[in-house]
Amino acid sequence: MSTAIANAVNQQVRLAQRPVGTPGRECWNFTTEPVAGPAEGGVLIQTLALSLDPAMRGWMNEGKSYIPPVGIGEVMRAGGIGRVAASRNPKFAVGDVVSAGLGVQSWCLVPEAELRRSGVAKIDLSLGSMTQWLNVLGMPGMTGYFGLMDVGQPKPGETVVVSGAAGAVGQTVGQLARIKGCRVVGIAGGRAKCDWVVNELGFDACIDYKAGNVKAALKEQCPKGVDVYFDNVGGEILDDVLARTTRGARIIICGAISQYNNTTPVQGPKNYLSLLVNRARMEGIVVFDYADRYHLAIAEMAGYLKDGRMKSKEDVVEGLENFPEALLKLFSGANFGKLVLKVAD
Ligand SMILES: NC(=O)c1ccc[n+]([C@@H]2O[C@H](COP(=O)([O-])OP(=O)(O)OC[C@H]3O[C@@H](n4cnc5c(N)ncnc54)[C@H](OP(=O)(O)O)[C@@H]3O)[C@@H](O)[C@H]2O)c1
Repeated sequence: MSTAIANAVNQQVRLAQRPVGTPGRECWNFTTEPVAGPAEGGVLIQTLALSLDPAMRGWMNEGKSYIPPVGIGEVMRAGGIGRVAASRNPKFAVGDVVSAGLGVQSWCLVPEAELRRSGVAKIDLSLGSMTQWLNVLGMPGMTGYFGLMDVGQPKPGETVVVSGAAGAVGQTVGQLARIKGCRVVGIAGGRAKCDWVVNELGFDACIDYKAGNVKAALKEQCPKGVDVYFDNVGGEILDDVLARTTRGARIIICGAISQYNNTTPVQGPKNYLSLLVNRARMEGIVVFDYADRYHLAIAEMAGYLKDGRMKSKEDVVEGLENFPEALLKLFSGANFGKLVLKVAD
């Protein structure tokens, strides 16, 4: 291990307490520890950038989910991109750029036994930039791809609606649905985001849910009804879309960000009988179930990035110390594009 690494300090953000409502600074502890070299078979990774995700809010809660909660006192879970700084594993060389479950910390020591669980994998920066590997080519892109293609099964000419349209998952879903020949209507907060998805990403229309009546706007923008709804937000918007679904519609339950900071029970859909009337279905997805097919989606999406049919936007905040406030941008809608925390060059 070089002297520079031996003298480096690992800056870490640990979960201090479980939040009630919106998670403030009191939920986090900032700690430091010396950086250690890897044991036989392991690697030491320097964090370059972290993915900030709405799911982090769920991981802070006690209780059963698709993944265990982060324990009090543990380094906060996060996916990210890093550079191998020291390696005692023949599959990784110093300087390799990898994606991995790095945690909110500036260095991550991964023992051999944890390499698979941490998902350490080399990434090819000729396919997309580092931030695109956290976006279209990363976890949100995979979510959008498999949620839309496997569960939504869009057919050319159908109408696809996606909420959280200017966010990480939403931007992929809408563009992919356009590529597949669908009419695409986004739902997003504010004129700037709506203008961007229409003018830059080529959506057919976008409804600004903060500006007024979503139900009336859906009627106007989806005259033939909604065949596929990719739901990122839940709550009232889900109800408004349910009221417009067509016969045989597919509703992908990807997330419900409008509910994540609730201190009252999650608001369930009131208009669910629309599923009965329309012989429609609503199905949840968890992206990790598709891990063995990520490489196929990455190859397809990298092609779209290259030929210009797909664009991406990332919102980059700098500095681990800004993690608590940066995370909150997801819930206020202050992020414009995939939210990334840059940690080092
Ligand atoms: N199932 C899975 O495997 C999986 C994987 C990844 C992500 N997800 C889910 O996918 C969704 C989108 O995630 P992302 O990473 O792409 O985040 P994102 O869309 O980049 O950021 C979150 C966005 O949610 C919107 N939002 C926040 N509060 C809202 C509210 N009350 N009502 C409506 N919109 C609200 C904001 O946009 P506006 O400015 O437009 O309001 C905000 O920018 C989340 O629900 C997340 O949990 C699920």
